[in-house]
Amino acid sequence: MKPFLFLLLTTCLLSLFGTAQKVSSPSGNLVVTVDVSPKGEPMYSATYKGHLFINRSKLGFRLKNQDVFSEQFIIRQFDTLMYDETWKPVWGEVNQIRNTYHQLRVVLEQQTTGRRLNVLFRVFDDGIGFRYEFPEQPNLRHFIIDEERTQFHLGHNYKAFWIPGDYDTNEYYYATTTLSEIDATNAESFSEISLKTPVAPHAVQTPLMLTGSKGLYINIHEAALVNYPAMQLLLDKKTYTFQTKLTPDAVGHAAFLQTPAVTPWRTILVSDRAVDLLNSKLILNLNEPSKIPDSTWIRPQKMVGLWWEMHVGKSSWDKASGKHGATTANTKRYIDFASEHGFDGVLVEGWNRGWEDWYGNWKEDVFDFVTPYPDYDLDALHRYAQQKGVRLVMHHETSGAATNYEFHMDTAYRLMQKMNMNLVKTGYVGRVIPRGEHHDGQWMVKHYNRVLEKAARYQIMVDAHEPVRPTGLHRTWPNFLACEAARGNEFNAWSVGNPPEHETILPFTRLIGGPMDYTPGIFRLKLDQFDPASVNRVHTTLCKQLALYVTFHSPLQMAADLIENYDAKPDAFQFIKDVPVDWDESRYLMAEPGDYVVVARKGKGTDHWYIGAVTDENARSFKVSLDFLKPGQPYLIKIYRDADDAHWQDNPEAYTIESFVIHSRRSLNLRLAAGGGCAVQITPIVNRKKIAKEE
Ligand code: NOJ
Ligand code: CA
Repeated sequence: MKPFLFLLLTTCLLSLFGTAQKVSSPSGNLVVTVDVSPKGEPMYSATYKGHLFINRSKLGFRLKNQDVFSEQFIIRQFDTLMYDETWKPVWGEVNQIRNTYHQLRVVLEQQTTGRRLNVLFRVFDDGIGFRYEFPEQPNLRHFIIDEERTQFHLGHNYKAFWIPGDYDTNEYYYATTTLSEIDATNAESFSEISLKTPVAPHAVQTPLMLTGSKGLYINIHEAALVNYPAMQLLLDKKTYTFQTKLTPDAVGHAAFLQTPAVTPWRTILVSDRAVDLLNSKLILNLNEPSKIPDSTWIRPQKMVGLWWEMHVGKSSWDKASGKHGATTANTKRYIDFASEHGFDGVLVEGWNRGWEDWYGNWKEDVFDFVTPYPDYDLDALHRYAQQKGVRLVMHHETSGAATNYEFHMDTAYRLMQKMNMNLVKTGYVGRVIPRGEHHDGQWMVKHYNRVLEKAARYQIMVDAHEPVRPTGLHRTWPNFLACEAARGNEFNAWSVGNPPEHETILPFTRLIGGPMDYTPGIFRLKLDQFDPASVNRVHTTLCKQLALYVTFHSPLQMAADLIENYDAKPDAFQFIKDVPVDWDESRYLMAEPGDYVVVARKGKGTDHWYIGAVTDENARSFKVSLDFLKPGQPYLIKIYRDADDAHWQDNPEAYTIESFVIHSRRSLNLRLAAGGGCAVQITPIVNRKKIAKEE
């Protein structure tokens, strides 16, 4: 949908060595300059409100056989474009998105070889996107990239929120240090999982969040990762310059491309206000429009599931354990619960044969994705769910055997269609098969995309676990509801867990690329129920678990706890039942990475507002102006807050629910305990007679 589109295109032919080209954002706040060095190296730099925040930085590649494709260039030609359009996402944080930028395409020619390379810049008011284009040409037809040499020369010792560079996993907790202190030598200590392939002591992953000089907030990531490896960033501490390090393939090359080809966009968000980065739609705007013409079958939704009970040791995935969770009777219990409380789906893990043998081996054919365990009556359960107005949610753990999954995908998706299932949670635990490929390499990037495309043909929505981190592809494939690609709530169940600041960093890092299946909603926060010796716990208060449904946008949310824990606290559970998963409007009100996030959102097609506020290990108060409400309209406000004596460590489950009537001219004082949160529901009162009194 294009309610308004404005384009203006100009082209210039040049043959001048070293001519600098400038392009500024629509407001003029951001300016990018592109030129070539005396050695013919393409370079770019960028200013924000006149402040140079990207110093001159190199662009280019090294191709196979030490073929240098980053020097001896001249600018042959350039063209510019002014673009302004508003489009409507299928689902999301807002119901329409403005996409406005100024574009500069620089056509470069390598003088020694005559080969061409374009660099395309799009300059928005809240950041920059640039990508390489390899035009079709006789002496560059199919080729191998060994190294991408894109630099981000920051020239300042910023504070960074980072996780170690790794080709296979992003399930790390964050370190907050200056750039000069980045040291991933002991990446081991950042994550307990065995599947790690750390890159180098000074390598970090994107989205990388930086704060510091001149009060700037900067985020470096990528958009539209489709046929290319994911990028890691290698820091040169002498100049505070990051250089891209592409995830290699099984034989050590980075990417295989055929012209015409493009790379993903390299993105740099920048602002002097942290909330602008959270409100930014730049990454979505750099992705292609939806490839699913009829998206009426795509449904943002909430689910419960036979899942947390496996992570906390109540049951197991495998039958041989003697405590198989996915039994017919247990699943019926969850279907009944979902139906009674208005949930769309019931995720069932461990339903299919193979779990005795799934982990820590190189076996390729552990799962066929269609054969249930004998104590799981899939056919009866799908009929039972249908009667109850609920759908089973499919689970396809591939145990890293992506080739095996591709072989079985059609039969697996046909079974789903037959069983009235239209949402699959995939998983890629373990080393990737084909051997030597990495989760973040080009082969797997293409695999994840193939899955989205094939699933769309079967009208199936996808929630991928252990994939490469997202880059806004949910615009192109809106059936891609969510993915993991970070350290989720599950780590609290069986490891040292996620520190209280984790959920205040994720919106500035991982979530910049797209929604996460974080699995919030844990009510029983100390996890010694099935193992009295266990010291594992969730590092938040109960109210913070509620607030996460608002602060972490996702069109797929799970009420992740055991249903008996919800039965024990029906008043708090009401918030999870009520909170929408799709929104007309979202306004990040106050935020600081690593400290707090406060956001207000209006439910899709309603006048109901929700506010979510989360804090790190410090207690905080926020004064929130309600000026986004309709003037003169009375609202019933319901606040789910940490009790006065709540604390994530000593008293995490203490909460208070308060309701009163309010108008837009009021502001609200929210008090959050250490490691706490606050969830607010604001509902217009239609029948004024019912208003007992105004507060
Ligand atoms: C890891 C996933 O993140 C988790 O949600 C799932 O339960 C296990 N793999 C088993 O597939
Ligand atoms: Ca995982």
